[in-house]
Parts: sequence; C-alpha cells; structure tokens
Amino acid sequence: MFDTLARQSDDPLLALIGLYRADARPGKVDLGVGVYRDEQGGTPIFRAVKEAERRLLEGQTTKSYVGPEGDPVFLERLWDLTTGPAGRSLATAGVQTPGGSGAVRLAADLLVRMGVKKIWLGVPTWPNHAAIFKAAGLEVVTYPFFDVPSQTVLFDGMMEALQGARAGDAVLLHASCHNPTGGVLSPEHWAAVSKLIAERSLLPLVDSAYQGFGKGLEADSEGLRTLLAAVPEALVAVSCSKNFGLYRERTGAVFAIAASKQAADAVRTNLAGLARTSYSMPPDHGAAIVSTILGDAALTADWMAELETMRGRVASIRERLAAGLARRWQVMTAIAGQEGMFSLLPLEEADVMRLRAEHAIYMPASGRINIAGLKSAEVDAVVEKFLSL
Ligand SMILES: Cc1ncc(COP(=O)(O)O)c(C=O)c1O
Repeated sequence: MFDTLARQSDDPLLALIGLYRADARPGKVDLGVGVYRDEQGGTPIFRAVKEAERRLLEGQTTKSYVGPEGDPVFLERLWDLTTGPAGRSLATAGVQTPGGSGAVRLAADLLVRMGVKKIWLGVPTWPNHAAIFKAAGLEVVTYPFFDVPSQTVLFDGMMEALQGARAGDAVLLHASCHNPTGGVLSPEHWAAVSKLIAERSLLPLVDSAYQGFGKGLEADSEGLRTLLAAVPEALVAVSCSKNFGLYRERTGAVFAIAASKQAADAVRTNLAGLARTSYSMPPDHGAAIVSTILGDAALTADWMAELETMRGRVASIRERLAAGLARRWQVMTAIAGQEGMFSLLPLEEADVMRLRAEHAIYMPASGRINIAGLKSAEVDAVVEKFLSL
C-alpha cells in the first residue's frame, strides 16, 4: 500500500546543508543556516544552559510524566519574559509545546476547533507557516508584507489587504526579527495594525521565535504589548530555540489571551486536549532548563549577557555587510535597519548560483541570508565576492 505514496521533494534548506558539507573548498561560507553561529562558526550552548543542566542532572528525582499542559512554573516564567508585567493582569492560558513549531501547530488546531476558516499570512513569511496551517485544515490567504527589490515593509499594502479580512479570520504577525526578511514594523505600524485587528474583530496569532535578537529582550516585545493592550483576544506562539539555544530540545509554548478567566480556562483545556491527541505531552528537558534559568537571578543575568553578545555580533555584521553591499547596490543600506538573523537579498537566482559555484557562498535560491553565518573576519572578502557578480 505504500506504493500509493509519491516521493516528496527534500526540504531545499536541508538539501543546501548537504551541498555545503560536500564542498571541499577552503573558506566556504554558509549563509543558509537557520541557527545562530558564533565567531568560530559554532552554535554554542549558553553558559547558563550548561549550569542549569548540571543542576537538573543532580537534582532531578523523577522522569514521570509532566502532563499535556507541561510545567506551569515554566509557563508563568516564559510568559513573564515574553510580555513583562503588562501580561500579568491578562486572562491567559498557556500550554508547553515541542518548540515554536509545536506552538504554531497547536494554535492552528485550536483555530480549526473554534471554527475559524481562514488565516492571513504576510508575503513572504517562514515557509512552514503556510504548511502548518494548511495541514491543520485552514485556508491560507495572504497580505503583502515586504518588497524585496526595494527592501521595504509594505505597510500600506498590508493594511489595505487586511481591510478585506472578515470578522473571525485569524492574522499571523511576527513579534520581531521577521523571518525571512528582517523587516521591522514601527511602533506606529503596530498601533495601527492592532487597531485594525480590534475594529474588524480578527484574531491575531503572534509568532515570537527570536525575542532578544532584534533590539533587545524587552524592546522586541513592544509591538506585542501594544497589540495585547488593544485586542480582547489573541494567541502567542513562543519558541525558546534561538534565544536559549535549545533548538533540539524542542522548547516552546502557546499562550491564549482571553476576555475572561473562564474563557481562558476553556481554551487551556482545549489546548491540552489537542496536545493529548497529537503528541500527548511535551518534552520536559528544555522547559526545565528555561525555568531553572528564569527562576534564578544570577543565571538569568548571565543568560541575558550572553544573548546580548549574540545580538551585538549579528547587529555589527549586519551593519558592515550593508555598508559593503551598498557600494554597488544602494538599496542594500536598508539591511542595516533590519533586525534579527535574516535578510532577503534582492538577488537573481542566477547570482545566488554563481556565488555558490564560483565563490563557495551558500544561500537558498530565495536569497535569504543568515547574517550570523558570517564571521567578522570574513565580511570584507564576502562583500568583494558579491561586488564581483
Ligand atoms: C518564524 C518562525 N517561527 C517559528 C519557528 C519555530 O522554531 P522551533 O520549532 O525550532 O522552536 C521558527 C524557526 O525557524 C521561525 O523562524
């Protein structure tokens, strides 16, 4: 019976990793990766994570089940990190999930159970968004978000498209550090889109996967806080993969903000029920690490300091790259004003292939680059290779 299955094409990003690995040229550069890389080209384990793991190893007394909702202490601490004091007074339901992807999927399943039919996604967005929502049974409709040739956020186009959304539709927004464009919504943009969402009775789903990599931990949630102050209901998907470096531990949570405590409680039980029929219970280890760090002032301070160093490294490479590329393409100055690890370069596919073939610089055909894939010492040489195209 398996003969009925057509072979699926491999994930292009994973295929790119294979091509990069097989390239024997010295000085090859991988701008395709989706993870943070340091000056040595590694994806480090945070010091605070190591220390939390040491404590867990010594102190853990059981491996018994955690329950479909996960650890309430982790959820409380993560919600506090995500929104700060502003979130404490809201009627909130949280469920621990396997990573941010698990959070997005559980949110999607909840939307379907609520009878939501459509979700609005920006163009472009993280490719897995559309895949997850379609797999859950939602219709995906799009709003313009970013124009690659001019490197600008299409805010007017976004607002115009969302005027066409119907009450009860869901809208996905990135909290900060937009993947794949790095495009930034200003505080005024957040205020305006929040107002529109409230007025048109849309349900926002905010994907927060890079808090701390943009302007800083607190500043990266400013837009989310503006939104939560304006709307009665929202969903927030949080990933701890990047900002705690816990990629493979699959750590995240989905939060629902409801209009009342009773409604929040109903949402919580539905999320837990959906989790139960999918993966039953979330993995514990990553959440236990996050909870240990956030519950200890010294570990939190150390984690924040290390995250800030990463943020600073990405920001400084971003500026140098923007200045270098702008020598030929004026529009590339915009890269300096973008945030997070990614930018979507206005390159032709032929240029991407030439960079790969002639200079061993790897990125997907879309032109999305991970700024963190560059070491400081490589920036100038890489810029020269771009300029030689
Ligand atoms: C925008 C966005 N959302 C969610 C995720 C999910 O991350 P994870 O499932 O690894 O926590 C990612 C990861 O790349 C992302 O870029």
